[in-house]
Amino acid sequence: MAKQYDVAVIGAGAAGMMCAAVAASNGKRVVLIDHAAKLAEKIRISGGGRCNFTNINAGPANFLSANPHFAKSALSRYTPQDFLALVKKHRIAFHEKHRGQLFCNDSAEQIIEMLKTECADGNVTWRMPTNVESLEKMEDGFLLATDTGDILADAVVIATGGLSIPKIGATDFGYRIAEQFGLAVVEPRPGLVPLTFDGPAWEAFAPLAGIALEVEVETGSGKGKGAIKGKFREDLLFTHRGLSGPAILQISSYWQPGTPIVLNLLPDVDVAAELIEGKGTLKKQMGNLMSQWLPARLAESLLAACDIALDARLADMQDAKLRKLGDAVNRWAIVPTGSEGYRKAEVTLGGIDTRELSQQTMMANKVPGLYFIGEAVDVTGWLGGYNFQWAWASAQAAGLALA
Ligand code: FDA
Repeated sequence: MAKQYDVAVIGAGAAGMMCAAVAASNGKRVVLIDHAAKLAEKIRISGGGRCNFTNINAGPANFLSANPHFAKSALSRYTPQDFLALVKKHRIAFHEKHRGQLFCNDSAEQIIEMLKTECADGNVTWRMPTNVESLEKMEDGFLLATDTGDILADAVVIATGGLSIPKIGATDFGYRIAEQFGLAVVEPRPGLVPLTFDGPAWEAFAPLAGIALEVEVETGSGKGKGAIKGKFREDLLFTHRGLSGPAILQISSYWQPGTPIVLNLLPDVDVAAELIEGKGTLKKQMGNLMSQWLPARLAESLLAACDIALDARLADMQDAKLRKLGDAVNRWAIVPTGSEGYRKAEVTLGGIDTRELSQQTMMANKVPGLYFIGEAVDVTGWLGGYNFQWAWASAQAAGLALA
């Protein structure tokens, strides 16, 4: 005999637990289904184990989507302050780390416990681990065939996230359900991910693994229909396979394969201007001069890439060579070979096309009763607590609509 519920939520991650709790607190009979044996692994590993659970500055400008307006409604109706009120209600100690990023003082487990408690308060039923084998729309509601028994539900919420980190349970379930019901999907690709480099232009930089510095990075032309352009000032990290660090993770979401990223390794110094102006007064050798500003090994690689000897004297340098060096430092354009992929990506760009969904309720326009929330939807945040804020806000929008 199939069990009957008002709402079946598939995916007990950030968005799924939040949505189940909201719908249940409004009196709905909710079942929460997940195929994983361990609950909410992504919350557990997030923010280095302390969960950067929101960003107090989160607004629509911090998100990427084929329709940048879509997220406005949900984000404005459930704000970072609203989530913070919930965190405070559960007496979870937190701190601001950097540019509005809020973290737990102790552990990400506290956010999982908070959501579990909210679900328990509304008597949410758990089905975990459970695989959903099929989802069928009936005349009245939906039939879910699962490996722990059939479920009948008036409404279904898909909260199965994106493809990032398959080893902790990410699947394409949401996209497959969209396809089954004839809903468009914006092609998914890894976001917030380290970029890889190889070839002759990279050779001089390959030995720099471990070097970190604050940079400005940008990509995209910003011209034409659908063009996207990003610019960030954050830390850069050289790795064995390429570049990482917050600057690269941020720009990776804007990067289009085959195009360059442009790095300014010294955003506060116009290197060519400083060197040309200093020719008469600065007596130093180029190696010593550049390592005043940059880590010594990086300075050496940049000089080598510009065919300038470490012991060359500034006074003897031609202006054209100094301008070339200035470009290498302040406008270093380099084309990534690729990215580290879903294995290392913090999020998945793309997802359920927002044109298919109501921005008020997250329900599919063509399939009454079927909702999509969280990372499964084509709304992707910057690094820094924005993705959880979207999970909470979209979950709240659907949860209230179901109530
Ligand atoms: P989420 O991935 O959380 O949950 C999906 C759930 O669906 C999972 O429990 C999964 O098991 C389940 N599922 C998948 N397929 C299924 C199927 N076929 N059947 C049943 N269940 C299925 N964001 C942020 O704002 N601050 C941060 O600090 C971080 N840190 C961070 C670190 C790392 C390493 C990663 C990988 C990601 C982050 N993020 C982040 C991103 C953030 O974790 C992510 O955007 C949200 O967890 C998305 O929430 P969802 O609920 O949509 O998916």
